[in-house]
Amino acid sequence: MQASDGDQFGLPHEVNMSWKNSAQRYGSVSMALHWIMALLLGGAYACIELHEAYGRTPTGAMFERWHTMLGLSILFLVVLRLGLRFVQPTPGIEPPLVNWQHKLAVFMHVALYGFMLVMPVIGWVLLSAEGHDVFFFGLQLPVLVAKDRAFANTVGEVHEWVGTLGYFMIALHTAAALFHHSFMKDNTLVRMLPVKSSASPAATKTKE
Ligand code: HEM
Ligand code: HEM
Repeated sequence: MQASDGDQFGLPHEVNMSWKNSAQRYGSVSMALHWIMALLLGGAYACIELHEAYGRTPTGAMFERWHTMLGLSILFLVVLRLGLRFVQPTPGIEPPLVNWQHKLAVFMHVALYGFMLVMPVIGWVLLSAEGHDVFFFGLQLPVLVAKDRAFANTVGEVHEWVGTLGYFMIALHTAAALFHHSFMKDNTLVRMLPVKSSASPAATKTKE
C-alpha cells in the first residue's frame, strides 16, 4: 500500500507499507520495532533519572517500577527483533559505504544489540540480588540470584557503568545517522523511515 506524503522536510514522497525488509529498505515491522524500542529506552532512562530525583518517596518507587518494566520490555522485544533480523535481508546503503565504514556500522549495530540484551539482564540480576520481587505489568517473574548485598553493589556499579556507555553509543549512533543524511546524502536514514527512498533501486543487499 502506498500513500502520498509531503516533502517539506526534504524527504521523498511515498510511504512504503511492506512489512518485510527488502534489499533496499527496512520493512514496517523492523521500523516499528526500531522506533518503539528507541522510545522505550528513552522512557527507561527518563524513569531512572526521575527515580533519582524523587528519592525514597512513593513517586520515586513508582518511577523505579516503570524503569524495570520498560527495561524488561526492551529485553523481550530485542529477542523478537534479533529473530527477525536473521530471517530477513539487511537493506544496503546507496551509495554503498566504503569497507571500513561498513565494518564500523556492523560493529555499532552488534554493540547496540548487545547493549539491549545485556543491560536488562544485569538490571534483573541487580533487582534479584537486592532481594526485591521482579514484576512485569502484574506478572511476577522469577528472581535470577539469591539476595546478596555485596554482589548487588557490584552489579549495581556494572549496571550504572554500562548505562553511561549506552548514552554515548546512542548519541554516536544518532549523530552518525544524521551525518549520513545531511552530509553524505545517502539513504541510511531514509531507509529506516516510512518514506520511499529516492536512492537507486539497485542498492545491494549487505551481508552482516
Ligand atoms: C536497557 C534497559 C535498561 C537501561 C538502559 C537501564 C539503565 C539504568 C541506569 C542509567 C540506572 C542508574 C544507575 C545509577 O546511576 O546508579 C539504572 C538503575 C537501576 N536499574 Fe536499570 N536499566 C535498564 C534495565 C533495567 C531492568 C530490566 C531492571 C530490573 C528488572 C533494572 C533495574 C535497575 C535498578 C534496580 C536500578 C537502581 C535503582 C536505584 O538507584 O535504586 N534496570 N538503570
Ligand atoms: C533518534 C535516535 C535514532 C536514530 C536517528 C536512529 C537511526 C537509525 C538508522 C537510520 C538506522 C539504519 C541505518 C543503519 O545504521 O544501517 C538504524 C539502525 C539501528 N538502530 Fe537506530 N536510531 C536511533 C536510535 C536508536 C536506539 C536508541 C537504538 C538502541 C539502542 C538503536 C539501535 C539500532 C540498531 C540495533 C540498528 C540496526 C538495525 C539492523 O539493521 O538490524 N537506534 N538506526
